[in-house]
Amino acid sequence: MRILISIISTLLLFQVSHAQLPSLIPQPVEMTTGKASENFSIDNHTTQLFISDSKLKPAADFFINYIKKYYNLDLSLTTLPDLNRKNVINLTLTKGVDPNPEQYALSVSSKSVNIHSSSPAGIFYGIQTLIQLLPPSAKAFPLQVQAVTITDYPRFAYRGMHLDVSRHFFEVSFVKKYIDYLAMHKLNYFHWHLTDDHGWRIEIKKHPRLTEVGAWRDGSIIGLYPGTGNDGIRYGGYYTQEEVKEVIRYAADRYITIIPEIEMPGHSMAVLAAYPELSTTPKLPKKVAETWGIFNKFNNVLLPSEQTFTFLEEVLTEVMNLFPSPYIHIGGDECSKIWWKQSAFSQQLIKEKGLKNEIGLQSYFIHRVEKFVNSKGKTIIGWDEILDGGLAPNAVVMSWRGEKGGIAAAKQKHKVIMTPENFMYFNHAQCLKDDSLTAAKFLPLVNVYNYEPVPAELSPAEGKYIWGAQGNLWSEYIGNPAKAEYMLFPRLDALSEVLWSPKAKRNYSSFQQRLKQQLRRYDQMGIKYSKRYWEN
Ligand code: ACM
Repeated sequence: MRILISIISTLLLFQVSHAQLPSLIPQPVEMTTGKASENFSIDNHTTQLFISDSKLKPAADFFINYIKKYYNLDLSLTTLPDLNRKNVINLTLTKGVDPNPEQYALSVSSKSVNIHSSSPAGIFYGIQTLIQLLPPSAKAFPLQVQAVTITDYPRFAYRGMHLDVSRHFFEVSFVKKYIDYLAMHKLNYFHWHLTDDHGWRIEIKKHPRLTEVGAWRDGSIIGLYPGTGNDGIRYGGYYTQEEVKEVIRYAADRYITIIPEIEMPGHSMAVLAAYPELSTTPKLPKKVAETWGIFNKFNNVLLPSEQTFTFLEEVLTEVMNLFPSPYIHIGGDECSKIWWKQSAFSQQLIKEKGLKNEIGLQSYFIHRVEKFVNSKGKTIIGWDEILDGGLAPNAVVMSWRGEKGGIAAAKQKHKVIMTPENFMYFNHAQCLKDDSLTAAKFLPLVNVYNYEPVPAELSPAEGKYIWGAQGNLWSEYIGNPAKAEYMLFPRLDALSEVLWSPKAKRNYSSFQQRLKQQLRRYDQMGIKYSKRYWEN
């Protein structure tokens, strides 16, 4: 009996002095836990949310809506400080600037939860951490928030996730949900892949045929490329400018910048279906693409004519007027040179401009578009093919064909976003025994988790040009929101830790432990994550 009492008291002591660390993803920079008696409770009647500044309303609203949706609790918002009040969540914007502008501090005691930051974004990230401190079940009332003290800030300034809405179209309601998922993982950029061979997805008022014609295809390939036929079903959709504005506002309230991508000079079959005169073969029939993997088989390349540049400038002007993002992605990838080789106009231009060949012509094309975008005060981002033939002077490079392009760009003192396909393409299968049609490559969770965005080849000074990294979700085999969630989760969790947490704190077995609670939260939220991510 004495032994039993001794064991029990040791266990109790252990619990009091070594409270378990909460399961947070991404892992914060610094965290200590307090006593269980210092835990905070949230209940319907007493908890109030105080904001020190109206700029914090989006963060407060996010929390209030979350608590309402998943716990059916009503919290009230106040801008009047009440120091005597118990049971209050204080969001306080501090003066000055924290060493990292996205930094926040969070402390929980039985009396209050306090989140401080010098920026509204930092407060928003504190709110995301607070949400993860809540029990992942609506049954546990009142909600207990573990007593912790956290200081936290991101490792990388660019934390991105992409969505291809061309191969398959996703409604505004899902795009918003997707943005919420990024926000909950403390990501701050959403790369919206709006145009490609398989559909043009953004209304351009000056060129209405882009959506009247370019947003629709007459059928889609069946099965894994090269497929077993065509379903013959008309497919498409697009976002009106009003919808685009609504999505931009929604993202801005979550401290997410949307980077629109307008593909050029390749991946333009949808454009050419609408405006064949912009192609090297205007007389040949044109269609919006119906099969994947097309880039050498169909003419999908813009003619580098004055008419094309005027068209692109008009399109980009509308796009830049819509999107407040300082960055515009202009694609630049997989532009097959065979079409310019066969085009007398293109060959003449190569001669006239003293260009070396078609690669020089691609570089000329991108430089020219960059000049226009820069003249409007914005910066271009391009896939790493924009290095070919000479990089445009101010361009940001998105390195997807491995890291080589990113390394070369960083050495040239250009900002780099790492998206190497072997680590960052979430459209690749996440388990070998995948249960639905997926791109044939394999990207298990652990490989995403262990990805290091700063290549060892770079010196510390060059490494500073690695702005961050991004996961990409190409949608050839992702035809609906449930499949998108299945491919995204839980790899998005691994990505968030790569981008946010200190390198020294990354630990896969700790991550796997913490993921268990996160998956219970996804169950609570109705997210259809892959349950087979561990079945490598
Ligand atoms: C790409 O995957 N073509 C950027």
